Order: sequence, then C-alpha cells, then structure tokens
Amino acid sequence: MKVIIVTGASSGIGLSIAQYLGNQGHHVYGISRSKHFDKSIRSIQADVTEFDALKAVYQEIFDIEGRIDVLVNNAGMGISGSIEDTAYEDASYLMNVNFMGVFNSTKAVIPFMRSSGGGKILNVSSVAAKLSIPFQAFYSSSKAAINAFSEALANEVEPFNIQVCTLMPGDIKTGFTKNRKKNSVTSESYGDRVEKSVGVMEKDEQNGMDPDIAAKTVHRLVNKKRIPLYKTIGLKYKVIVLLAKILPSGLANRIVGAIYAFKKDK
Ligand SMILES: NC(=O)c1ccc[n+]([C@@H]2O[C@H](COP(=O)([O-])OP(=O)(O)OC[C@H]3O[C@@H](n4cnc5c(N)ncnc54)[C@H](OP(=O)(O)O)[C@@H]3O)[C@@H](O)[C@H]2O)c1
Repeated sequence: MKVIIVTGASSGIGLSIAQYLGNQGHHVYGISRSKHFDKSIRSIQADVTEFDALKAVYQEIFDIEGRIDVLVNNAGMGISGSIEDTAYEDASYLMNVNFMGVFNSTKAVIPFMRSSGGGKILNVSSVAAKLSIPFQAFYSSSKAAINAFSEALANEVEPFNIQVCTLMPGDIKTGFTKNRKKNSVTSESYGDRVEKSVGVMEKDEQNGMDPDIAAKTVHRLVNKKRIPLYKTIGLKYKVIVLLAKILPSGLANRIVGAIYAFKKDK
C-alpha cells in the first residue's frame, strides 16, 4: 500500500488515476477546488495556486499516514485564442494554475517525501509541450515549462531518493474541452481561424482516448523500481513525439501549422 496524492482528482484524468489506484488498495488523497465523493478517494478541497493551503494539506496527510510516497501533479486547465487577443490576466491565471501549481505542490511535498525516505513525483504535461499548438500558446508554454522544471527537479532531488517522471498524454476524452476558457475577443485580422483551429482540437479530444489509459500508466509507474524521465501516453502520440524529435524543428512546426493554423478566408 502506498500513500498517493493526486491533484485535480475531481474529474477526467486525475479522477480516473485516483479511482484506479484507490481500488488497488492504495491510500489516495485527491486535491481539487470542488469536493468529489468516491469511496476509493479521500477528497480534500484546495487550490493548487495557494502554496500555504497545499502545505497544510500535505502536512495533515503526513501526520495521518506517516509518509507520502507518490505525488501526481495533474491539475490543469486550458485557454484558447490568438496571443495578440489574449488578456494578460487570462494568460497569467493559466500559468499560475498549470505551472506555478506544479511548483507549489512539488515544493510542499519534497520535505515529506524526504522524511519518508524517498518517493515519486509524476508531473502531467502534454504532447503540446513538444509541438506548440497555435491559438493555444499559453497552454503549450505552460506544459513546456513543466518539462523543463521536471528535468531540473529530477537531478535536484535524486540524492533524496525522489524520482521524477513527466507524463505527456495525447488527446483524452475528459471535461477539459468544456472547461477550456475561450477568448471572448477575436480581432478581425484572425477571422475564423481561431474557431476552426480550436474546433479541430475539440474534435480530437472528444474522440480521444479513455482516461483509463493514463490511470493504467500511472499504476505501472507506481509499481516500478526505476521510472523514466518521460512517458508519452498513447501509441499514436509516441510516434508523434518521436517525429518531433527527429524532424527539423521548422518542418515539424509547419506540419503543426498545416493542421491547426488555417489560412484566413479572403
Ligand atoms: N484531456 C486531454 O486531452 C489532455 C491531454 C494532455 C494533457 N492533459 C492534462 O491533464 C490534466 C487533467 O486534465 P483533464 O483532461 O482531466 O481535465 P478536467 O477534466 O478539466 O480536470 C481538471 C482537474 O483539475 C482540477 N483543477 C483545475 N484547476 C484547479 C486548481 N486551481 N486547483 C486545484 N485543482 C484544479 C479540476 O478540479 P476543480 O475544478 O474541482 O478544481 C479537475 O479535477 C491537465 O493538466 C491537462 O492539461 C489533458
């Protein structure tokens, strides 16, 4: 039995991970702003943008359990729109939840993992970290930031026997699509390009994989002695990430543009 914290465990990928691990007999604590009632999860309300609140919650879990073995930093959200039309507040809020949330949660858990003799930190990024999506620049940037953060973190905490893995899921069918905050402003210069682009993404997400695939991946990582630095979720997406690595960056970016950038109708 392991003591596991999953952030963003009230819906989608986080809920699936938390339920799956809880049903395997692990003690799973789910963190989210809304309370989720499920017999396999101990749900605690907290916002990942608030460090002091997270620290107090992790202290409480440590006091009850005597250790914390695994942290899955999964909480996240999306915004869409052109960079030019994005409000500073929206961009800043997204970075605060998706990136600073991972920082807050990681910073809060490290002392408890060190006292536990080690642990695993699994950060949920995205394939969009490797291939930046037009009209979702801030989302892609937040995930690329998680990748860089996780690489540095892995080397920093290795002497404490804490291992780090960045998960890069492809499209998964969850509430993420409806929770995405779309720009209310779209200037004339972009026309319907933004709507068309986000439409492609929404369709891919809603025809995407079952969140169960992420749960099974995390379950395998929890049981593994040594975990990899990166784990892409979904066979198709493993091929895409490999192509992104071997193709010249300009070519890869043009392919992404051909799928998501659209030309403005004359
Ligand atoms: N779905 C995909 O295709 C896909 C692909 C790649 C990566 N991802 C990543 O997977 C993660 C989970 O996404 P999902 O698809 O499962 O979306 P989702 O169904 O919208 O779930 C998001 C979760 O994050 C929580 N959350 C949001 N803001 C929070 C905050 N400030 N503090 C605490 N919890 C917060 C939400 O709970 P509350 O609203 O109750 O707080 C919810 O439990 C995200 O990091 C996302 O970027 C998703």
